[in-house]
This record gives sequence, structure tokens and C-alpha cells, in this order.
Amino acid sequence: MSDEHKFWPTQPVKHDPTAEKPHQIIDIEKENVPKKSLPTPAYVKFDVIDQYQSAKLEELTEFLANHYVGDAKGRCRFGYSKEFLTWWLQSQSNNISVGLRIVKSDQLIDEHQKLVEQFSDGELVGYISSVPMNYTFKDLTKPAQSVDFLCIHHELRLQNLAPLLIQEITRRSYKQGIFSAVFTAAFTAKQDKPTIPPMLLTTYYHRLLDPVKLSQCEFCRKPQAMSERDYVQHYKLPYVNSDKAKCVRKMTKQDQEKCCQLLNDFQTRNYKIQQHYTPDLFKKMFRNIDNVIQCYVYEKNGEILGFASFYIVDTQMLAPEIVKLHKYIRNGYFYQYGVKEGQNEIDELTLMTLMTHEMKKQKVDVATCLNIGKNVEIIQKLQMDGGDGKLSYHTFNLDWGTEIKNEDLGIVLV
Ligand SMILES: CC(C)(COP(=O)(O)OP(=O)(O)OC[C@H]1O[C@@H](n2cnc3c(N)ncnc32)[C@H](O)[C@@H]1OP(=O)(O)O)[C@@H](O)C(=O)NCCC(=O)NCCS
Repeated sequence: MSDEHKFWPTQPVKHDPTAEKPHQIIDIEKENVPKKSLPTPAYVKFDVIDQYQSAKLEELTEFLANHYVGDAKGRCRFGYSKEFLTWWLQSQSNNISVGLRIVKSDQLIDEHQKLVEQFSDGELVGYISSVPMNYTFKDLTKPAQSVDFLCIHHELRLQNLAPLLIQEITRRSYKQGIFSAVFTAAFTAKQDKPTIPPMLLTTYYHRLLDPVKLSQCEFCRKPQAMSERDYVQHYKLPYVNSDKAKCVRKMTKQDQEKCCQLLNDFQTRNYKIQQHYTPDLFKKMFRNIDNVIQCYVYEKNGEILGFASFYIVDTQMLAPEIVKLHKYIRNGYFYQYGVKEGQNEIDELTLMTLMTHEMKKQKVDVATCLNIGKNVEIIQKLQMDGGDGKLSYHTFNLDWGTEIKNEDLGIVLV
């Protein structure tokens, strides 16, 4: 890691991309972890964003809608809905959800007074969250946090508030007895590389479902010589045999236990690193919530042979000339899926083709996935194209001790 980095060299993450051993693992004594929150600069303070308080979730939704990941030119930005954040943050009762709020006071030094001028007292200006999961590598299952939604207000960037949030969530996690984490960082192909050496570098792939809308949103470019009609025809979803299409239905509560087993078995068979779901966690994460997450089963003769899920996140359009036409793009992301072993009825490609049909029925404009796990085999066949968006996977205080290939990875963070 180069000298320009001040924070990450002090952390148990991979420092040298060429090193055989990715990084040093530190032993933590839970008892020695500070009980109180870390000290903050006087102009901010930590605040728990309680995932069970509707008003706080609303505030968080607005904050992320204004400041979370967007393109460099400010023409679009993720728009995670309140319902989505509620689903993710309430998936476990011990999830960590910490914000940074502005503290206004006459006592602040001039430099800080200047920084907070435009804010109101108590305004939310930073956020980080984590969901504890069990990650499995070969026979080893380790609890680790899935860290997500790190965000700092645009006007307070480069003030070292991100490391502060990362260190505070680390402290809170250590207090829970969880000493490792997995996190991702988004960047675009135009930006040269991720901040720190990743465990794995991945690319977003997209299957256009409403190509005309997407080209109007400048998400893709319709070839000039092609008519709109031909463009739509070009992206018409492939036909799936109606006998197979009939076997797809929404997952119900009664299916959850079987689907959990099917998914864990599928992941164990296919991936070196996977998220292992207890029946309890599965039940909370995988259920049907309109506009948030959709789960399906493939059932033949009363037997569940496949399970598939996707989640929905809008991308907000910000460029005025586009907003006039469309306020957002509705994005359907492949989430966890799997098929039962030892049957020839349904394979991953057919299952996920069927999911793109379900997405279309639900007015999703584009199906998206990363080139990880089984997606690697099916993205070309599904007519998915690699986009500008990249996502690097990182581990914190966690060394799998082996090189990870895209097809080895079954972990999906939202
Ligand atoms: C990512 C973000 C929180 C960083 O905040 P910032 O104010 O630019 O960064 P700070 O000055 O506070 O901290 C800089 C440190 O954080 C690190 N950092 C920056 N972005 C990071 C990321 N996505 N993940 C982990 N670390 C990151 C930097 O490398 C730097 O550490 P270093 O000195 O060791 O290199 C901010 O740019 C942001 O909110 N972006 C939009 C949302 C986003 O991209 N979130 C990340 C989720 S994918």
C-alpha cells in the first residue's frame, strides 16, 4: 500500500497485493475493547440510527439518497428505499447502525465553526452499518460483519470521518465478539483502482429489460441505425418452455426451511466462500416484500428443485433533461439462488432466465449481477453486458489464505 494512505496501513487488511499471505490477523480480547464510543472531533457525535424507529429510517433514507454512491458527473445516484433499508437493517436484532450528527456550539474552534456553518444542529452527516453473518470457507465457518452503506455528506468529505466511522463500527463489533468483516467498495472503470488491494475485483453486468427507457436515461446507447422497434426486439427475453415456466411460483413461508437447506447445499457444492444461512436468518432475509426483495421457488411434482431471489433498488436520475422523462431506473439485482443436486429438470441458466421474466413482470428496467459465483457461467448466455461499475471485495481481520477466483465467491452484499 502506498505512503499516501494514512488510515488503512494501520488496519488488519490486505496491504500488499502481491503478498502470499493477504494480511496479518490480530487477536482481540473482548474485555479490552473500549466500552465508550471513540472520541470524535467536537463538531460531530455518534448516534445510533435505530432500525426500529421509522422516523430515523426516513432520515437515513433521505441522507443516503442525497449522498450515497453515484456517478462521478452527478447524473445519477442510488436511491435505496426506506422499505429496503428497513428489510436489511432489521434482518438481525444485533445489526449495527451508526450515524454521525453535527454538534453546533459556541465552544467550537474556528475551523470547526466554518465546517458546520451550513448545517443544522443534530443533522445526520455520516453513516455506516453492518449485519453479522456466518461466512464459510471449506469446513471453517466464521462469524463476520457484512459492512454496508458507509457514507459521508458531500460537504464533509476528506475530513477523516470515514475512518472514524469504520473504527467505531469495528469497536462495536468487537464488543459483540465478532472480530472480522467483509465489505465492498464501488468504483467506476474510469477510476483507476480500488483504494486498498481487494480480495476480489468484480464487474457489474446488466441485462436490458426496457432498452428504450434505458437509452433515454443514457444508461446504454441505442445504435443510431437501429429503430426503437428493432432495439426492443433485440432485447426481447428468450422464450422459456411453458412447462418449465409453469413450475415457478413465489416462495411462501412454508417453503422457507427447504429453500434454506437447498441454498446452503448449493453454495457448499459450488463456492469456496459462501454466506451460510441459519433457518432463522434465512426466514428474515428471504421473504417477499414488494419493491424490495422477491423470492421464488421452482417446484415440480411437489418437490422444490430451485430457489431464486432478487432485490430491487432504484437509481435516481439527477440530470434535469433526463428527469423530465424518467425520475429513476428500476434495477433488479440477482441475489442468492441455487438448484437441487442430482436432477436435470432445472439448471441455473434457465432459473435465472425465468427470474428476468419475473423482473420484467414487476416493471424492472434492468437486471444486474456481479460476475461472481455461478453468474460467471450464465451472464453471456443471458445477454448481459459488463458496465462501467466495478465492485471490490475486501476482508477485515480475515484471511482465507488462498487466492479467490470470481467463480469461488457466493457472497452478495446489497
Ligand atoms: C466513501 C466515503 C465515505 C469516503 O469518505 P471521505 O470523506 O472521502 O474519506 P475520508 O477523508 O473521511 O477518509 C479517507 C480514508 O478512507 C478511505 N476510503 C475512502 N473510500 C473508502 C471506501 N469506499 N471503503 C473503505 N475505505 C475508504 C480512504 O482510502 C482513506 O484512507 P487512506 O488514507 O488509508 O487511504 C465518501 O466518499 C462517500 O460517502 N462516498 C459515497 C458513498 C460510497 O462510495 N460509499 C462506499 C460504499 S461502496
